[in-house]
Amino acid sequence: MKDISAIEVTRKCSLKSALEKLENSGTTVLLLVNEEGILLRTVTDGDIRRLLLAGFGLEDKLDKLADKSPVVASPGMNPESVIEMMDRYAVSQLPAVDQQFKPVDLYLRHELQPRILLSVPHMGDYERQYVEEAFSTNWIAPLGPNVDGFESELAAYVGSGHAAALSSGTAALHLALRLLEVGAGDVVLCSSFTFIASANPILYQGATPVFIDSAPDTWNMSPAALEQALQSLARRGITPKAIMVVHLYGQSADMDSIVALSEKYGVPVIEDAAESLGAYYKGKHTGTFGTFGIFSFNGNKIITTSGGGMLISNDRQLIEKARFLSTQARDPAPYYEHTEVGYNYRMSNVLAGIGRGQLKVLDERVASRRAVFDRYRAELGDLDCIEWMPEPEGDLSNRWLSAISLNPEKTAVTAPALIEKLAAANIEARHLWKPMHQQPLFAGTEYYSHGEESLCDYLFSTGVCLPSASNMTEKQQTTVIQHIRRLLT
Ligand SMILES: Cc1ncc(COP(=O)(O)O)c(C=O)c1O
Repeated sequence: MKDISAIEVTRKCSLKSALEKLENSGTTVLLLVNEEGILLRTVTDGDIRRLLLAGFGLEDKLDKLADKSPVVASPGMNPESVIEMMDRYAVSQLPAVDQQFKPVDLYLRHELQPRILLSVPHMGDYERQYVEEAFSTNWIAPLGPNVDGFESELAAYVGSGHAAALSSGTAALHLALRLLEVGAGDVVLCSSFTFIASANPILYQGATPVFIDSAPDTWNMSPAALEQALQSLARRGITPKAIMVVHLYGQSADMDSIVALSEKYGVPVIEDAAESLGAYYKGKHTGTFGTFGIFSFNGNKIITTSGGGMLISNDRQLIEKARFLSTQARDPAPYYEHTEVGYNYRMSNVLAGIGRGQLKVLDERVASRRAVFDRYRAELGDLDCIEWMPEPEGDLSNRWLSAISLNPEKTAVTAPALIEKLAAANIEARHLWKPMHQQPLFAGTEYYSHGEESLCDYLFSTGVCLPSASNMTEKQQTTVIQHIRRLLT
C-alpha cells in the first residue's frame, strides 16, 4: 500500500504546489480531497496545463478545477479486475477508496500488468537438452558438435548448400562483404529502410554505401530505384561491389527483379535475412537467392541463441573461407601463423545447442507470429487509417514483427502519439526503422528514391511495430487490440 497522503491535495493547493507534488510523487495523478478527506476527483498534469492555458497563473488554486466524479476501485480487488476497469476507462492509475469514499490506495497499471513486449525469446523443449549435452561432454569452447549440427541442420532447413555459425548477424554481413572483396573506395548498394547493422559493415570495409528506397508492394528494396542507381553509377563508370538487400520484418524483397538486375549489371547480391528466417519468396527460403544470405539469432529474433548469426551460401569454398576468417585466419601450420587479417566471429558450442533446439520449433514460431498479425488485421481491419505491411501473393512472411502505418489523411493520431499512449498502457510498440540516408552517420550519402516521395521516409514517420512475440497470450493480444481501437477511434 502506498503513502496516499503524499498525493492528496485540497482545493486550496496552488497550481505550482500541485505541479511540484506531481513531480516528487513518482505518479502522474493527484487525488483532490475535501476537508474530511473524501475524494472529489483526480488531477493530472494535463488538467493543470489546461488551467494554465486558460489564463490562470501558478499561484491560482485548484478550486478553479471543475467537478468531475472520479472512477474508483475498492481496496484489495484482484489485479485482473483492476486491469479490466483500467481498460474500460482507458486509464493507467485507479484510486481505491473505502466505504466513506476516502482514498486508501492507488493502483498503477505497470505494477499489475506485466509489460507487453514487442518480441521476446520463446524456448522449446530441446534447447536445454543440447546445452546440457555440451556441458556433460565439456564442449564449452567455441566449435564442437552443436556448431556442426546447427550449421548442417539450418542449411538443410533453408535449402542452402553450406552454412557457417557466427557470433552475430553483423559478423556474417561483414564476412560476406570481405569475401566479395569489398574494400576501400568500393560502392555497395544497400536498402535504406533497415537497421544500422546492415550498413555498418560496409564502413568496416572502408567502402561507400549508396542507399535505395523501398517499394510499396513489399516495403523492401525498390527494383526501380535500384535500377536508377545502377544506371547512374554506370554512367560514371562505377560498378558497385555488392547489392545488400534486406527482408524487413520477415517479408521478402522482390527477388526476381533484384536478381535480374544483379545479373544484368554483374553485381553480386547479399541478402540480409536477419529478420526473415522461415519466410519464403515464391516457395524458396529468403536468404538463398544471393551469393550470400545471413540470419541473426539475436534475442529479439524469431528464434534466438541469445546472440548469434549464420552465413549461408551455395559455394562451399566461400563458406570454408568464412570459417577460416572467423577463427582468426589461422594458417594450417603446427604453430600460430597468419597471413591474412582474421576475426573472432565463431559461434560457441553452447549457444549452437540453443540454436538446434530453436530450429526444431521454427515453423511453429512462424505460425504463431503470423497468427498474431492475422488477429490484429481481422479485428482492426475495419479502421481504414491503418495500412498493413503487404505480403505479395506467392510470398510467405514470417511476420517477425507486425508492422503497420497510420495514414495521416485518415487519422490525426500520429505514430509517435500511438507509441506513447500504448507505452502508458504498459504496451511496448516501436517506430519502424529510421532510414539509413536520414542517419547522421550517413549524412550526405547518395540515395535513390522509389518515386517523387521517398517511401521509406513516409513509413518511418507513420509506421509502428506492434507486440508480436510468438508466446503472446490471447489476452495480451486482446489488450493491445482494445487499446489501439480506443486510441484510433
Ligand atoms: C535487418 C537486420 N540486419 C542485421 C542485424 C544484425 O544482427 P545481429 O544483431 O545478430 O548482429 C539485425 C538484427 O539485429 C537486423 O534486424
